Amino acid sequence: MSRRAYRAALLHTLDDPSRSPDAVEHHPDGLMVVEDGHVAAFGAYADVAPSLADGTPVEDLRGRLITPGFIDAHVHYPQVDAMAGWGAQLLDWLDNHAFPAEQAFSDRAHADEVAGFFLDRLLANGTTSALAFCTVHKVSVEALFEAALARGMRIIAGKVLMDRHAPPGLTDTVEGGRADSEALIRAWRGKGRLGYAVTPRFAVTSTDAQLAMAGEVAAAYPDVLVHTHMSENAAEIAEVARLFPDARDYLDVYDRFGLLGPRSVFAHCVHSTDDAFGRIARAGASVAFCPSSNLLLGSGLFGLRRACACGVNTALATDVAGGGSFSMLSMMGEAYKVGQLQGDSLDPLHALYMATLAGARALHIDGHVGTLEPGKEADFVVLDLAATPLMARRTTKARTLAETLFILSILSDDRAVARTYVAGRLAYGRAGD
Ligand code: GUN
Ligand code: ZN
Repeated sequence: MSRRAYRAALLHTLDDPSRSPDAVEHHPDGLMVVEDGHVAAFGAYADVAPSLADGTPVEDLRGRLITPGFIDAHVHYPQVDAMAGWGAQLLDWLDNHAFPAEQAFSDRAHADEVAGFFLDRLLANGTTSALAFCTVHKVSVEALFEAALARGMRIIAGKVLMDRHAPPGLTDTVEGGRADSEALIRAWRGKGRLGYAVTPRFAVTSTDAQLAMAGEVAAAYPDVLVHTHMSENAAEIAEVARLFPDARDYLDVYDRFGLLGPRSVFAHCVHSTDDAFGRIARAGASVAFCPSSNLLLGSGLFGLRRACACGVNTALATDVAGGGSFSMLSMMGEAYKVGQLQGDSLDPLHALYMATLAGARALHIDGHVGTLEPGKEADFVVLDLAATPLMARRTTKARTLAETLFILSILSDDRAVARTYVAGRLAYGRAGD
């Protein structure tokens, strides 16, 4: 049996703090005990230390802040080489940046190289779980799953389904998409910490027949997720209305094909109405809020306050490469800016919840991760509040926990990540840490 303890400031959210203020658990001088990859104790040092088993090594990380590993609720691993693509909005950006990058993933060696790079960037940013798009190529999924398995990460991913309106080399067929998806589900879901998501790209790039197939596959394997994009951009929404003239709205397209349910994650929803948010909430589905992407692609301002008021579980996501950073700390800052443009100042503790437990809930992995309650898997990040001279200067003057978190979200990124642990194992350590 392996047992190790960490003395540091400890912080997690047990629910949405904007609804339940008591949901924030913070121990300025805390002790977390990790046993065989799981959290065994989490509390104030003075409470936990007396019952610590003799001989347990204690790492002194005072001055650092431990939080749950971040969860990126929507990201595209094959778009690493399309990051920082200049000058386009969604549909042109797909043609000029995303699709060219994705075409290279028919090559397994390329997919292996990018998958390893991508997961190592996640870890360096404190992200321990993600819901990821791959490409239309089956090998792109195999490469990511193999790399995630080697790193012990809890990753959910799926083969993209696209049987129209995409360049040659990036389309599949209804039956080919079904066969590949089912083969991948059978081979990989539940292996290590991996999960599968049925992944129709969006309503523009799948025929009615393919969306129906996606709904059938999701129904046949109840433990998989459904992962897609929705209501991101005005031109995209107009195109969906043209392609599906009988649908009541964008969400109705997915609903008709069995793709709206408690295991569905819809990225963006920038232009969703309260009515659509209400239907998402009643279905128990989740939304991935991608602030960096929405700003960079000029998609619009996500209505977080409206989504929350309608009861939607809203998680935070980078949407790389639409988004310009892997840092979930930066996403907390970007989400704040999106709120500011709508007269709504996001509470940093709500932002932390969206970057951790809300993501775990969206991905249906909250029984395992998302908090550091005893019994959970020990996926956690050690944050350095003084990673830069400016941060040191600002955090020492912070008067509240919320202020400290806000400084982290505005003034830092991967620089603040000293260490990342996956199931109790050190998976990333900054040079010198
Ligand atoms: N909608 C359909 N595909 C994509 C994609 O790759 N990125 C983003 N941001 N939106 C999409
Ligand atoms: Zn996306």
